[in-house]
Amino acid sequence: MFILNSSDPVPLYKQLYTQLREHILSGKLPANTRLPSVRQMAVELSASCNTVDGAYQELYAEGYIYSRPRSGYFVSPLDHEVAPHSLSGKKGENNLVQPYQSHFAYDFHPAHLDPESFPTELWRKCLTEGLRRNSREFSHYGDLQGSWGLRCSIHSYLEKSRGVTCDPDQIIVSAGLHQGLEIIAHLLQGQHTTVAVENPGYHLPRTVFQNHGYTICPVPVGIGGIELDQLKAGSATIAYVTPSHQLPLGYVMPVANRLALIEWAESGGRFIIEDDYDSELRYQGNPIPSLQGLRPTGNIIYSGTFSKILSPELRLSYLVLPYSLLARYRQLYRDYNSSVSLVEQRAMECFMEQGHWERHIRRMRTVYKKKHDMLLRSVETHFGRRAVVIGQGAGLHVVIRLPETPYSEAEIIDKAAQKGIRLLRFSDFHATGHPEAVTLVLGFGGLVGSEIERGIALLSHIC
Ligand SMILES: Cc1ncc(COP(=O)(O)O)c(C=O)c1O
Repeated sequence: MFILNSSDPVPLYKQLYTQLREHILSGKLPANTRLPSVRQMAVELSASCNTVDGAYQELYAEGYIYSRPRSGYFVSPLDHEVAPHSLSGKKGENNLVQPYQSHFAYDFHPAHLDPESFPTELWRKCLTEGLRRNSREFSHYGDLQGSWGLRCSIHSYLEKSRGVTCDPDQIIVSAGLHQGLEIIAHLLQGQHTTVAVENPGYHLPRTVFQNHGYTICPVPVGIGGIELDQLKAGSATIAYVTPSHQLPLGYVMPVANRLALIEWAESGGRFIIEDDYDSELRYQGNPIPSLQGLRPTGNIIYSGTFSKILSPELRLSYLVLPYSLLARYRQLYRDYNSSVSLVEQRAMECFMEQGHWERHIRRMRTVYKKKHDMLLRSVETHFGRRAVVIGQGAGLHVVIRLPETPYSEAEIIDKAAQKGIRLLRFSDFHATGHPEAVTLVLGFGGLVGSEIERGIALLSHIC
């Protein structure tokens, strides 16, 4: 049934993953079908068990299959009505304060990057190269949506690495998520009034949409991501989600829920904002493909950033707008100019074009995996059973719950500060309600290994 081609540059496990995924999505492999055991499939394909296991693990991580103890893997029930459609035919239809300085010895801020890792020399070279190559362009205003060359580089990267299907035409280079959300809030104003946000979740979308007069509808998050029943019960017609790495809990939304969310959007002219902020940083298996790729023609606005891998100081991010919004965007913004410096855009284009971006992602994944593992080991050593770890395996932070601590969140944060430890308030991620148990967000990106170990040891004494 499946054919693996060893002369194809695509790894064998990926070939098998893709074929199995297609069979599942098309219904050729019906729900609850038992997959052959790893060994059996390996024999059938004359492949190694590692190849089959790699494919199964990836399908499992994305929710295409589930496992039953001692029985193996089974196909997850999916709604085939809303399985992925291709982009063909749609294209072109719409005519187209004080600078921050940490005074803390142990700063567990979840958005801090490794202080040694910015590729200064390479960036300098790319800046120079960008200036040299395009010097004539700097005499006039650039394209509203961002430089074409950078959009083409982002497009290739998204297609290859994030499973996003779009045209460079749909990409808008923006100066950070807040600007992307401002654009979205503006575009959807009038027809939409209520935005669902994950609870707990990132505070920024709440603020931006509130500033634009929208009503915010916080929806609880479970291990499958935003709770769909509660979303459907509410009146929101826009949902902001972080499906590949929920902030802050780290959950991955399984494919069945992704399809159901897409169906929710499609059935009522609603919109999904997919914030794919740090999916490059996954330490077990491969990055989870985007939700946008499941329905490229759907009402999904995709948002990505260079802040997590390269630097938040660059203020470089991007949106992928569905064609249904592109005409309105161009009409509303016809007199505007891009707010991202063309010099930085050209440097980023050069950085991507010359392969530095992909190499840098691989390097940073290794750097952060070590820190991530060190954090988990330290928590295990110093907290033992007192801490329940949540959402590990990706990103720049891990969350721990402390069900037995006699102290409140405020007391722990105060005592931690006295010891030189900075913690963010987990309760600030909540739009409403409170966590069931004291919960700590432990960012590890900005700390070196020995600081992680010492910081966690100190923290364990005050919790
Ligand atoms: C959920 C989420 N999305 C996006 C971002 C990145 O935003 P920006 O591109 O503005 O740096 C962050 C940064 O911490 C984040 O936590």
